[in-house]
Amino acid sequence: MKEWRSSLPEDDFLIIGHRGASAYVPENTLSSFELAEDLNADYIELDVHLTKDDEIVVMHDDDVSRTTEAAGKIKDFTLDKLKELSANRKKGEKIVASGADHEDIAIPTLSEVFEQMGTEVRYVVELKDTEQYPDIERKVVDLMKSYDLIGTDQNGFPKAVIHSFDKEALKKVHKLEEKIPLLQLLSFDEGEEAELSRKELKEVLQYASGVGVSYKAVTPVFVNTMHDKGLAVYAYTVNDAEDALKLKSMGVNGIHTNEPDILGNEKES
Ligand code: G3P
Ligand code: CA
Repeated sequence: MKEWRSSLPEDDFLIIGHRGASAYVPENTLSSFELAEDLNADYIELDVHLTKDDEIVVMHDDDVSRTTEAAGKIKDFTLDKLKELSANRKKGEKIVASGADHEDIAIPTLSEVFEQMGTEVRYVVELKDTEQYPDIERKVVDLMKSYDLIGTDQNGFPKAVIHSFDKEALKKVHKLEEKIPLLQLLSFDEGEEAELSRKELKEVLQYASGVGVSYKAVTPVFVNTMHDKGLAVYAYTVNDAEDALKLKSMGVNGIHTNEPDILGNEKES
């Protein structure tokens, strides 16, 4: 086992708040991350992009039109202009937030999230659309370093993990800082079973500590194969408790969920 691959917990079942607690409050906002923390998520997951003036901001899409009142690519907005928008809209309407402030919610920068949430929570940062953002990998790694998010916390969990569908972006991160655990995201079509060819597996093993897989494709054989190679398996995006428990019984190491309270007290049983 490579030293850098050993830091993800092997026999835990982690709850990763997907875009925060995005079932309840607008996704990828500070409110969403705070609620995920309140609901005891083990990690919060968020997606990052770069503005025109090279600021790292947190949003899922590379275009603001789904979640704000405006339209256009993030890379064409300065941070100041993005900050004028409200990230509380879904399909043109306000989300009715439960237990959260209904006021407009600003798009956070990654440093604002790190600043506000600190090391009380752990992070899964997704690099998206990297072809649009030269050197975003280095910027994210540098920011993680400046917030002391490399390495493990007092419980032995990595303070921050990076995941992406983009294997080249992950390889760049691995070259920059091999202590950051990396998860290769994999997508499978409806009805397909997850698998990696021998060649793909060999490649993933060069840089990743695990894989993130569309949950319906996960099988016990896939989980065992990955575990035999020392790779953790996380499933996305699971919003049904029965599915969550089934994945847990297969030995999956954790789930991405919009509802961090999905298992309530059942998580530990
Ligand atoms: O949780 C995995 C997930 O983040 C990848 O999909 O589209 O929600 O970023 P997406
Ligand atoms: Ca994501």
